[in-house]
Formats: sequence, structure tokens, C-alpha cells
Amino acid sequence: MREVKKIGVLTSGGDAPGMNAAIRAVTRAALHHNIEVYGIMRGYEGLINGEIKKMCSSDVSGIIQKGGTILQTARSVAFRTPEGRVQARENLKKHDIDSLIVIGGDGSFAGASIFSREHNFPVIGIPGTIDNDLYGTEYTIGYDTALNTVVEAVDKIKDTASSHNRIFFVEVMGREAGFLALMSGIACGAEAILIPEVPGQIDKLMNYLSLRGQQKKSSIILVAEGEDEGGAIAVSKKVQDAFPQFDIRVTILGHIQRGGSPTTHDRVTASRLGVAAVEALLDDQTSIMVGIDNDQIVHVPLSKTIKLHKTVDPQLLEVAEILIG
Ligand code: F6P
Repeated sequence: MREVKKIGVLTSGGDAPGMNAAIRAVTRAALHHNIEVYGIMRGYEGLINGEIKKMCSSDVSGIIQKGGTILQTARSVAFRTPEGRVQARENLKKHDIDSLIVIGGDGSFAGASIFSREHNFPVIGIPGTIDNDLYGTEYTIGYDTALNTVVEAVDKIKDTASSHNRIFFVEVMGREAGFLALMSGIACGAEAILIPEVPGQIDKLMNYLSLRGQQKKSSIILVAEGEDEGGAIAVSKKVQDAFPQFDIRVTILGHIQRGGSPTTHDRVTASRLGVAAVEALLDDQTSIMVGIDNDQIVHVPLSKTIKLHKTVDPQLLEVAEILIG
């Protein structure tokens, strides 16, 4: 059995509401098991630069309700190089840190997996991204909050859309995944949802809009930023060319989706996953992600979370299709 005495924790990639709740849970669970905790600033960047500080229980007081991440985050280019990872390993050695917990998305897990293999270093991943696009877990931290942010914004847009009989193209985040667009589209009663997982939706949209022409009512079209036409602006231009008579507007929700106080669901998920990550280390696990499946904690090899793609639920696609008026 490996000894776990000092763990490092960092947040990496895009921040997500609930990351603070996860940092808090990791810290408190570790201290509960008499393990020292070191917070690493700015993700792998801070690991390479030696921005590492010891954490105590009071350092994570009053943060469960806060968006963002108190440890800050970065998308590190240096950590993609073997030299960067050697530097990171040396800094961990300097502080006698024996294990690492990484809170982030697939890019962060790719780095974690290589690092763990190269340096034979125990690493556990906690899924944190508003995209919810990690294989092996039903939820990622931040997804639920981002969904609620989108729904609240679109509800407001609907008021003005219907007052003017306008078509609104609302772009939500998701470079490679349409989970946010699909779920929020269903929740908002969108007239169409364009996501990267279902290419070629533009023809269907044109068809729908040509029928709409006679009815003259407002419409909300949810567009994931990574859909195959190139996002809401590109789609709206095509539609405007085909239907010059339509009054069209585009709203790009952008980074508003990444901020805000986490929902209860995200706080509780983050708390469960943080505790589970520490327990996984104590259980001699390494190179795994702790995730949620069927409301139970699961362990999934990091290699799988990187290689395999999470697919959108075909039942949800069907629901969206059936409910369009
Ligand atoms: O991965 C999370 C995410 O918010 C994506 O949905 C989005 O495409 C991307 O990050 C934006 O990244 P950045 O904030 O670095 O521009």
C-alpha cells in the first residue's frame, strides 16, 4: 500500500461554478484523514512555476457558494512538453507532495494522464466543466449552474422576441459538445437546437422556417458554438439570405455561462466528488476520474475519459424533436 501524506490540488482549463466546492471538499476530506493539503495556483502553470501553498480548513471557509476558483486556473502550454512536466515533478518533490488531484475537463485529464504515466505519480481527476462532455460521468461540476444561467437568459430573450415577432439565434458554449444547447433548448422550449453531434441540421431549420413564414411568430433557435455551420452568426446569415423578410437577431451568451453562484446540485456533486477523490487515493487508486453514474460514485480510468466520447442521449434528441411546435 502506498502512503498518502501530502496531496496537491489544482483546477485546470475553463473554470466552472462548483470548483470551489470541490476544492473545499478535497481539503476538508484530506484533513479529516490527517493528510496535508497543498493548493496549487493557476493549474499546471502554477505547478511548473512552484506556486504552491499549504491549505488549512479555514482557507476553504465561505467559498462553497462562490463561482470561479480560488486557486485560479489556466490552459498550460508548457505542461504539454516533457520539460514542463519534469519541472512540475520537481516542484512536487520540493514540497514532498505524494499525490495530485486535478479538477478540470478532458484537456486537463490528458495532461494528468501523461504526467502520471511518465513520472509514476498518483493522480485522481474530478470532472469540472460546464460542457458536461466527459465520458464516464453523468454530470460534470458546473454544468447544472450553466444550464440554469442559459435558461434564465433565454426566458428573458423570449419576452422581447415575442414582442417583436423576431427570430433569435442564441449561441451557447460548447466547442465540441452540445449538451448545454440540447438540455437548455428543451428547458426553454426552443424551436430548433443545433449541436455538433447532429450535423446538417440547417436544412431542417430552413424547412421549419419556411413553414413559420406563414404563421409569423417569434422563434428561439439554440446554437452550440461548435455546430457545423460555424455558430449562431454564420447560421443567422444563411437564414437571413434565404428569408430576407425575417427580423433576425443574434445573442451570444458567452462567458456569462461560466460564472455565478453554483446551484445546489453542483455544490452537492462537487462535495461528493471531492470526498470520493481523497478516498480513492487512500484506496490506492491512481490515474482514474471519480464520476457519477446512476447517482453512484464510479471510478473511470483517465485513459478512457480522454479516448472515448460521451454521446448525447438519443431519447433527449427525440424529446426535443417531438416538442417543437
Ligand atoms: O470548456 C469550457 C468552455 O467554456 C467551452 O464551452 C468554451 O468553448 C471554452 O471553454 C472557452 O474557453 P476560453 O474561456 O478559454 O475562451
